Amino acid sequence: MKKISIGGLQVSRIGLGAMSMSGYYNIGDGSDDESIRTIHRAIDLGVTHIDTAEIYGPFANEELVGRALKGRRDQIVLATKFGLVSHAGGGPGIIDSSPANVRTAVEGSLKRLGTDHIDLYYQHRVDPATPIEETVGALAQLVAEGKIRHIGLSEAGPATIRRAHAVHPVAALQTEYSLWTRDPEAELLPLLRELGIGFVPYSPLGHGFLTGQIRSPDDLSDDDWRKTNPRFSGENFQRNLRIVDEVKAVAAETGATPAQIALAWLLAQGEDIAPIPGTKRVARVEENTAADGVELSVDQIERLNDLTPAAGERHDEGNMAVIDR
Ligand SMILES: NC(=O)c1ccc[n+]([C@@H]2O[C@H](COP(=O)([O-])OP(=O)(O)OC[C@H]3O[C@@H](n4cnc5c(N)ncnc54)[C@H](OP(=O)(O)O)[C@@H]3O)[C@@H](O)[C@H]2O)c1
Repeated sequence: MKKISIGGLQVSRIGLGAMSMSGYYNIGDGSDDESIRTIHRAIDLGVTHIDTAEIYGPFANEELVGRALKGRRDQIVLATKFGLVSHAGGGPGIIDSSPANVRTAVEGSLKRLGTDHIDLYYQHRVDPATPIEETVGALAQLVAEGKIRHIGLSEAGPATIRRAHAVHPVAALQTEYSLWTRDPEAELLPLLRELGIGFVPYSPLGHGFLTGQIRSPDDLSDDDWRKTNPRFSGENFQRNLRIVDEVKAVAAETGATPAQIALAWLLAQGEDIAPIPGTKRVARVEENTAADGVELSVDQIERLNDLTPAAGERHDEGNMAVIDR
């Protein structure tokens, strides 16, 4: 697997997102054993970048990743996130990037992950109640103490990125980017390139939609988080199937799968882009990592650039409201 640099940090250009191993999507499918086998298979295939977060589970996902990495920790650039659990009493789901919360959060993450350092530590969502300078100041202190190596931001807007980067270099921005979520192209990507910050697209498979495996809302269990996502609801779902059909057409002529096409298109956007497709299954991690070897022609990239735009916002109203712009 080819390696690239995101803000000075070397990672495999395809990583692994661990979120779906602890809920969210078709909860009940899969098992911890298969998830751990998936992480091990990913590492065997050259994946060196694994992404988790304190809020996933909550906490259970970091524990699972920590278990999987026993004896393999030094092969991995380990990324996790804080700021969606308030340890001052609010608990999970409460935004809190106060310096005190950052310090409490990092100790818990280190313990659950079974490590003495986190390679890439992201603020999960910008906290309107805490100036970003204060949060990054606390993170810079953790860098000085050796508890974290690099600082990341997730779903931060351009002004916040600039302010954060002025306090301490930011290695990576993580936000949603895929064939059906092109928002970062206008302002964010040029800014990241100007500042030398890497980009980590989350949900690069459109939460699974772009793989072509989800053809009806009935393919999602009732407790599946996607049931509340506008793109997976009602008329939008039906309209968005057109996008998948176009991706499938490119896949058929390339001899690749739609998931591989979605990833190959992202890789073609630049050498500073490191997507983290999520899966809890060995077969799928094999399929997704093999996208590293899929070459798209200029004509195919142009056709993919011109796909029918997605119908529906990328998150529900509550989740859109906490995105910094
Ligand atoms: N920073 C943030 O706010 C944020 C938000 C969301 C996600 N993330 C990160 O980004 C990672 C990836 O995002 P995501 O999990 O939301 O979405 P994704 O990678 O776009 O898609 C994951 C979904 O697609 C399915 N899938 C994966 N590979 C497949 C394949 N080859 N064929 C068919 N289905 C496939 C997975 O199912 P199975 O798991 O059942 O295989 C899962 O349901 C997460 O794990 C997390 O680390 C970050």
